[in-house]
Amino acid sequence: MTPQYHVVTLFPALFTALTEYGVSGRAIRNKLVELKFWDPRDFTSDSYRTVDDRPFGGGPGMVLMAEPLDLALTAAKTALRRAGITQPRLVYLSPQGRTLNQTLVEELAREPALVLLAGRYEGIDERLFARHPMAEVSIGDYVLSGGELPAMVLMDALIRTIPGALGHADSASEDSFADGLLDCPHYTRPEVYLGGEAPPVLLSGNHGDVARWRLKQGLGRTWQRRPDLLQGRPLSREEQNLLDEFRRETGDTV
Ligand code: ADE
Repeated sequence: MTPQYHVVTLFPALFTALTEYGVSGRAIRNKLVELKFWDPRDFTSDSYRTVDDRPFGGGPGMVLMAEPLDLALTAAKTALRRAGITQPRLVYLSPQGRTLNQTLVEELAREPALVLLAGRYEGIDERLFARHPMAEVSIGDYVLSGGELPAMVLMDALIRTIPGALGHADSASEDSFADGLLDCPHYTRPEVYLGGEAPPVLLSGNHGDVARWRLKQGLGRTWQRRPDLLQGRPLSREEQNLLDEFRRETGDTV
């Protein structure tokens, strides 16, 4: 079934970066995924189409009012119910959420539909969350001006996991993190660039040797740069041997 991602956002036009370019744009055009946008301003009843107001208790900035978001989320849920999806997961993009990683991407990719809420300003009237329970997801420990870029980051990562979304040229199974490791280095023509040679094994035509070299480099880089990733990932005997080899070859044996 085609995954459906409904996004509640004040700035639907920003999403052309996702919908019109690259892997995600092609997946949408090929109907491997369906996106729909709901603008809370379309659910206001005053002539200014007001969606925000000053915070009770004072302080800087504005707060998004509950009602336009409530109505937009309800409209998204109603549309999904009509499409046969009764309990879509709701995700609010916020720096207070669970930090996104490939494990969470894969978990969310199993959902037939998601309703993403992109916030703006200082925050959202808390009473919205009582009416629409949602998971909170952060894309990292820094603050952005809104949830649109995080929603695009999440959807880009989700779309890459859809079978057929990646062309022949790129494959998700070769991505960084696909097997819990960082990616290996890459090379293309020329074989020698300004005196720097591409590793001869990559030109050997021996697929087994190439695969072992790539795994060794991925293991070595992970060990050097992100040892935390190896904590929860037991190594097979072959992987341990390759990592030991990497450390001997690089003199990085500590
Ligand atoms: N909104 C603002 N900053 C964010 C972040 N780091 N992650 C998700 N949503 C956000």
